[in-house]
Amino acid sequence: MAIQTIGIIGSGAMGRGIAQLFAQCGRTVVLHDTQAPALQAALKYLSTTFDTLVAKGKLPADQAKEILARVSITQELAGLAQCDLVVEAIVENLAVKQTVFKSLEALLKPTAIIVSNTSSLSITAIASACQLPNRVAGLHFFNPVPLMKVVEVIRGVRTDASVITQLVELVGLTGHTAVQCADFPGFIVNHAGRAYGTEALRLLGEGVAHFNHRQDALAYQTIDQVLREQVLFKPTSASTPGQGFRLGPFELLDLTALDVSHPVMESIFNQFYQEPRFRPSPITAQRLAGGLLGRKTEQGFYAYQDGVLQKPIDLSLNTTTTSTASAPDLSPIVHAWVGPGLQRAAVVELLSALGTRIDDSSTPAHDSLIVLLPEGKDCTTEAIECQVAPERSIALDTLFAFGFKACKRRVIMTNPATDISYALRAAALFASDGCQVSVLKDSPGFIAPRVIALIVSVATEIAQQGIASPQDIDNAVRLGLGYPIGPLSMGDQLGARRILGLLEDMYSVTKDPRYRPGLWLRRRAQLNMSLLSE
Ligand code: NAI
Repeated sequence: MAIQTIGIIGSGAMGRGIAQLFAQCGRTVVLHDTQAPALQAALKYLSTTFDTLVAKGKLPADQAKEILARVSITQELAGLAQCDLVVEAIVENLAVKQTVFKSLEALLKPTAIIVSNTSSLSITAIASACQLPNRVAGLHFFNPVPLMKVVEVIRGVRTDASVITQLVELVGLTGHTAVQCADFPGFIVNHAGRAYGTEALRLLGEGVAHFNHRQDALAYQTIDQVLREQVLFKPTSASTPGQGFRLGPFELLDLTALDVSHPVMESIFNQFYQEPRFRPSPITAQRLAGGLLGRKTEQGFYAYQDGVLQKPIDLSLNTTTTSTASAPDLSPIVHAWVGPGLQRAAVVELLSALGTRIDDSSTPAHDSLIVLLPEGKDCTTEAIECQVAPERSIALDTLFAFGFKACKRRVIMTNPATDISYALRAAALFASDGCQVSVLKDSPGFIAPRVIALIVSVATEIAQQGIASPQDIDNAVRLGLGYPIGPLSMGDQLGARRILGLLEDMYSVTKDPRYRPGLWLRRRAQLNMSLLSE
């Protein structure tokens, strides 16, 4: 391997982590920063980190000493002259990075490679300041570097293929997974990650989670609970359990902080020339302007006290009984009529297990609860298409497990005409085996199917545009965003045809091009092929 000595410019949060990773895989590391205190702080960080690893028995003391001895510091850029590779991790500013790259070129041997750890700038634009742009690439690490096991290796339009090959090999030596991608806004991870937050914000903006209350905090909580507790993907190996999302979208936005995430949402949207799939939300623009940034300001979508999330209190409890002239009928549901759908037989089985008699008539009896089973349509459209009374109609989400005592949370959806007593009685019925129930207002695709369909849609577009290979897209998103499985595997598990159907239905209800399915998905669904197939 030609890369033995590695220079790192910028010894901040990223530079020091990158230094640790490369020193641990046997490279000589020279750390440069214009600020002497930053260099000293980085050295202190490294020695404390290795001390901790030794104390925990994860690294022998003599090895820790050897690794630390491989790291030197310099306040002069010229100190990097002998490096085979230089990684730039300084302030996120194109002009500043270009100036540093120009100065570096004058010092380095012609075979040396120069990379940037930028999250949002174009590698091609940075390289355009260089005499030899073919040796410039992107090497995008995630924070914290030693723990986030994926690195994006980014090919600018003029980058030599041999440069990418060397970088991929080097990343492999660190034990991290290298994923290759073309120089496109957001690369893979920040591009593929757009759907989760923006779709949750659309659901919030549409009032989908505001059933029977006006409290925004309860709506954030509903959306988060549904995505954490209802979504469950099968394990990818026998030794791992099935998994959902670890954090709900609003919990995640609070963790990242809106001063970071809102500008990224705007920047990706604009860099793709207002692609509707990436459309940001005025909700986060307003909250950012108001300083409700997230955990770090103790007030984001949720309130925090000493770093602990304060669960919202339901102030609307019992309002239905006190605010209406006559109390709604809350007697148990006796009969249920089930609409058509992929999961009809399983829903009939569930309702029977819950003690409800099934109304088998072709049109529902006058007092039957009407349980509709749309996937991408809303409850209104489904009730009209099935020609049933909307007042007695609710829809049950059947994308993930919903069977008797076989899930944590079920989700039902109402339409604007649904009688409150039918909604509440249906909620009680579906909760009667101990399962939690979320009741939504009308939404094409409920919550989870809508968000998952968007995640798959965005990932398949990345594949269609040739930005990265399907396998690298899956690995990058799983490792970089901590999703239970990669987005193309999500599509495969649920079925490409089902995702296509969801998007087509969502599009037909909303007429919003955000939901239009792309060609990669459509062709593979039509041909019954894996979304991972090239
Ligand atoms: P930071 O602010 O923690 O550290 C930057 C360091 O660069 C400082 O020590 C500063 O003194 C030094 N510096 C600034 N201008 C310099 C120059 N001209 N020459 C030498 N040193 C200079 O920044 P952080 O968070 O480490 O980010 C660095 C880069 O990594 C940015 O491009 C950022 O977008 C990218 N990045 C950051 C991630 C994060 O989570 N913090 C994740 C992935 C990429």
